[in-house]
Amino acid sequence: MDGTYSHDLLPMPYTFEAAAKTAQKIRAARDFLEVPIVVENVSSYAEFHASEMTEWEFLTEVVERADCGILLDVNNIYVSSRNHSFDPLDYVNHVPHERVAQVHIAGHSKFERYILDTHDHPVIDPVWALYARAIELTGPTATLLEWDDHIPSFDEVHGEALKANRYVAEKVGA
Ligand SMILES: [Fe+2]
Repeated sequence: MDGTYSHDLLPMPYTFEAAAKTAQKIRAARDFLEVPIVVENVSSYAEFHASEMTEWEFLTEVVERADCGILLDVNNIYVSSRNHSFDPLDYVNHVPHERVAQVHIAGHSKFERYILDTHDHPVIDPVWALYARAIELTGPTATLLEWDDHIPSFDEVHGEALKANRYVAEKVGA
């Protein structure tokens, strides 16, 4: 914004103007790079009074305008749902599933007044439930387990990956 670039995730006001501007940037990136683009839903810790829609409506508005894909991070949805008191299933149910190109799962850290997307714990059951619903709606979709800190043994990480496979088999058939 105004010549300043952030390399971290920043909250945005969910307005039609912001959606149009974001979509324009995505189209510009895609046209310059000449590759398909997918955009990821963030975990957020602040909301704006100026917002005109929910986050999933904003995401939908952006990807429809940009005609791009979605990287659906169900842990981010869970983190934001707890920080902002909404039903995470509403989010998963309402994004355009045909645009989902990849799904992210991860663990997070719980603090007294908020949840932080730290990628340093096992995936919790409510996030697995969101994953199961997402896979049910999208069909088999590439899934990435994000684990960036306090990395456990290979067996534990591999166990989480196998668990994801079991949900896929259960929801959409082996
Ligand atoms: Fe992610």
